[in-house]
Amino acid sequence: MTLHTEGAITFETEGAFYNPKMMLNRDIGVAMSRALGLTEYLDALSASGIRGLRVAKEAGVEKVTLNDVSPQAFELLVKNAARNDLDCTVSCKNANVLLHEQHFQAVDLDPFGSPSSYLPAASRSALCYLFITATDTAPLCGAHLKSGIRKYMTVPLRTDYHREMGARVLLGLAARELARLDKSPVPLLTHVTDHYVRTYLRVIKGAKAADKCLEAVGYVEHCRSCGSFVLLSDPHPAGSCDHCRSATTLAGPLWLGRIQDPDAIHNVLNCPGLSRRAEKLLSICASEVEAPMYYDHHSICERLNITPGKIEEILERLRLAGRQASRTHFNGLGIKTDATLPEVEEAAKPE
Ligand SMILES: C[S@@+](CC[C@H](N)C(=O)[O-])C[C@H]1O[C@@H](n2cnc3c(N)ncnc32)[C@H](O)[C@@H]1O
Ligand SMILES: [Zn+2]
Repeated sequence: MTLHTEGAITFETEGAFYNPKMMLNRDIGVAMSRALGLTEYLDALSASGIRGLRVAKEAGVEKVTLNDVSPQAFELLVKNAARNDLDCTVSCKNANVLLHEQHFQAVDLDPFGSPSSYLPAASRSALCYLFITATDTAPLCGAHLKSGIRKYMTVPLRTDYHREMGARVLLGLAARELARLDKSPVPLLTHVTDHYVRTYLRVIKGAKAADKCLEAVGYVEHCRSCGSFVLLSDPHPAGSCDHCRSATTLAGPLWLGRIQDPDAIHNVLNCPGLSRRAEKLLSICASEVEAPMYYDHHSICERLNITPGKIEEILERLRLAGRQASRTHFNGLGIKTDATLPEVEEAAKPE
């Protein structure tokens, strides 16, 4: 038997899935649970239980339920909870059954691949918060188009900003699932790290708020030729690019509302014990401007046939021109701005 340690938990993993590379994801999940002052939390797809056990011990959440459909995982969950003196509820059900049986203040979905098959039940069960991980970045980001269409009931598009496309495809589905139940999401923190998308949603109850939130679900009309894009509230694209007149492609429906809540993120940043990597990631997320999608600095310079200068200088020029502009955690070469492509190109040219 091999014993592992992560955070304040010592645990076994034999017979269940454990990926140490997801530690950053769990570190932030624990800090978020603590910052939100959760009292009840369901780890719906627990495997070894490391996620829920850390939330119980490190975030001090009173009522934690660990669930996994696998009998081996269930045995492990019982052992791992006892080993850490944690009084968690442990169950061995199909997550969708449990989610239909019971409501939880916070529901966390961390499945293999896509969370889409759990979203209807999780949207119903979650009273205040829904945390979601998706590891199927190829369908989400448009690399596997048909799978993206099937799983997310949307048309994703592979672009320079594909990582943010993935996040907004997932959020778009979550918003539509919640809206069917007269609920709506308020994203607190969204990040795409390594090969997964992770989002933390506050869930609001009410038909009016749900109607309002659906207004944030829209489309992106993208030009593959020059890389410019426009945001649309309905699926009626102009069909040709304003900038270079080439034919455009439409992606959506997608979430075009806010994806970060800087106040909520600062509360997470104030939690003690965050790793340097988590701090860095959260700080960038908190400082991202609200404009959806981003331009890739090197793609722009390649098209203009110029040597890339410093991103910070381009951002400063855009700000001086009255535009919002920031870096983005999605891509180290990303320029997030409400400026148009011609304006960004102008700012990228050497003085
Ligand atoms: C990616 S792992 C979870 C990892 C874990 N949350 C962590 O942080 O280490 C997904 C787990 O979901 C379980 N699972 C798969 N389908 C399920 C279902 N329908 N209901 C409940 N659990 C399920 C698998 O047995 C597996 O243990
Ligand atoms: Zn164009």
